Amino acid sequence: MISHDTRLLAAVVNRVFHLDPGRATIDVHNTGWDTYLAQRAADERRRTRERANAERKAAALHAQADRMKARSATAVTARSMSRRADRMLAALEPARRTEKTARIRLPEPAPCGRMPLGAISLTKSYGGRPVLDGVDLAVDRGSRLVVLGLNGAGKTTLLRVLAGEVTPDAGRVVRGHGLRLGYFAQEHDTLDPAGTVRGHLAAAAPHLTEGELRGVLGAFLFSGDDADKPVGVLSGGEKTRLALAGLVHSGANVLLLDEPTNNLDPASRGEVLAAVGAYPGAVVMVTHDEGAVDALRPDRVLLLPDADEDLWSAEYRELVALS
Ligand SMILES: Nc1ncnc2c1ncn2[C@@H]1O[C@H](COP(=O)(O)OP(=O)(O)OP(=O)(O)O)[C@@H](O)[C@H]1O
Ligand SMILES: [Mg+2]
Repeated sequence: MISHDTRLLAAVVNRVFHLDPGRATIDVHNTGWDTYLAQRAADERRRTRERANAERKAAALHAQADRMKARSATAVTARSMSRRADRMLAALEPARRTEKTARIRLPEPAPCGRMPLGAISLTKSYGGRPVLDGVDLAVDRGSRLVVLGLNGAGKTTLLRVLAGEVTPDAGRVVRGHGLRLGYFAQEHDTLDPAGTVRGHLAAAAPHLTEGELRGVLGAFLFSGDDADKPVGVLSGGEKTRLALAGLVHSGANVLLLDEPTNNLDPASRGEVLAAVGAYPGAVVMVTHDEGAVDALRPDRVLLLPDADEDLWSAEYRELVALS
């Protein structure tokens, strides 16, 4: 099983294969999840201690050898001490690179009117089956709406209609004064698989200089050669990061986020959630992730497929993981 859901891992696994990206090596731990975490922390502490000890001893040997090498009587001994110190350092495991975390940011919202986005009686059917049936929506400046519903309830369809990517059969989307939409698509359909990482960002933020572009890519962990990769080969988490990077300089004041924590490792997920929590613009978020709802602090909830809208209250939190 491959998963970023640490609660699931703690409940299920009794062995952990840790793929260390710095060494491109798999370390096998024959224990469950919690013991694995404790083992890794203890290993790290031991390596740090051993390194510090060896470095201290080697420095003392080198200092002694320096004092002895000038006199011919002790020069040979000094050289051998010096070599011993070098061997001691060479025998150390190379320092492990710590795994990097993306510094994920969301846009600074551009000014807009009181109600930047709304929808009136949206109706959409596929193959004669209604998916959206008379959905009304008012997204006020800075407001936070969470959309809940089972798989197939129509959440992604609603966001696509709001983003203007799908035309409703009836009803309409009302674009308010100054609206700038940022759309994070669940299936990454805003990313062109044939384009490159750099190309996507350059198209999403055409006013950025080459240096600013590199800065944003670096913050979202695309460094050096990664920037020239075709988008189609990116991992799930990398696509998520790239789509979020494309929003940073958009000035979006309404974000449509369709399951934005999918595929992210726990550290990157934490970054996304912190950024969502601090974002001052309006958010319409679809999620099955309770932590994402906690970070959003929604003021309203929309339940699909019935399109019932209500003020957010703690009871709805139970629905998040179920729906
Ligand atoms: N282009 C399409 N053609 C035909 N059917 C479609 C199309 N797009 C969506 N549907 C159908 O509409 C329904 C709603 O799909 P949607 O992707 O909006 O669900 P969702 O609530 O986002 O689900 P999930 O939680 O799995 O992401 C599904 O039954 C789906 O099969
Ligand atoms: Mg969906």
